[in-house]
Amino acid sequence: MTSRNHNQPSPSEITPEPVYQARRRLLMAGAALPLLGLGACEAGSSDAPSSQSATPRPAAEEEQTRFEDASTYNNFYEFGTGKADPARYAHTLQTAPWSVQIAGHAEETGSFTLEDILKPHTLEDRIYRLRCVEGWSMVIPWRGFPLGDLLKRFRPTSKAKYVSFHTKVDKQEMPGTRYPVLNWPYREGLRMDEAMHPLTLLVTGMYGRDLPRQNGAPLRLVVPWKYGFKSIKSIVRIEFTEKQPLTSWNLSQPSEYGFYSNVNPAVDHPRWSQKTERRIAGTSSRLFANRVPTLPFNGYADQVASLYTGMDLRKYF
Ligand code: MTE
Repeated sequence: MTSRNHNQPSPSEITPEPVYQARRRLLMAGAALPLLGLGACEAGSSDAPSSQSATPRPAAEEEQTRFEDASTYNNFYEFGTGKADPARYAHTLQTAPWSVQIAGHAEETGSFTLEDILKPHTLEDRIYRLRCVEGWSMVIPWRGFPLGDLLKRFRPTSKAKYVSFHTKVDKQEMPGTRYPVLNWPYREGLRMDEAMHPLTLLVTGMYGRDLPRQNGAPLRLVVPWKYGFKSIKSIVRIEFTEKQPLTSWNLSQPSEYGFYSNVNPAVDHPRWSQKTERRIAGTSSRLFANRVPTLPFNGYADQVASLYTGMDLRKYF
């Protein structure tokens, strides 16, 4: 344990760009793997898929991830690039009062308090698989409501073809944003039909309680058929746009992270396979968690594949 002052980064944290780039590539490939001397590619492809069949099972029938894993093994780069950083540092995030800016091509726009946003909606509990692009996955009971129900309230116009989302950015509260690790604010986007799809959830809680800050309190997205990075946390802005919005990961590594980012075992990440995933569930260890086959659209193909009919998913990855 270190007794580091979290507001004051140590000199070693101010990483020169090339070192930082290399380190970040390793981190994206799986935080602990470099410690074992494994490369990113080996991380995805060394283990053969288990004999388990690739037929999608409802997430609700699968073994769940423990709350303690889901809330301590996170990606929230605004609080650091290590998996344990968000749980350690996110306590500084002010989640109340919270407001969300609604902007762009809609009849109603403006600033809304979190209470305004949530009031008309009934929260429901839904168990979804979340598959991270790094090759691990979890099964989490989320609490929220369909994003589409919120979007409809603002009456998007015919020019609204996409929806863009921004995370809060505050250098005091979110120490990771003092460094150009990503293009801040963290930005994500969905095509309008993806945003309106009933599976797309705006989430305020998990495991029957409010979201912990490290999981994106007070409001995050969960898009279960896409890689986890589309599930943007701590949202402060939602904009209806005509053009495809810029997204932080695509801006940072366009050849590796596309706009669509549908979970697709047939399209490898340029540096590792996406054919299997480490399922962090139950009491198995995180690093040596069960390796299971990755399913097209993360197992939700029957519900979402039709959104992409006629699209070349290698090109639109
Ligand atoms: N949202 C913001 N604002 N910042 C992030 O770094 N990481 C993404 C996504 N949302 C991220 C984010 C990634 S890479 C993943 S896999 C999921 O959050 C992880 O969600 P979890 O920590 O709740 O499992």
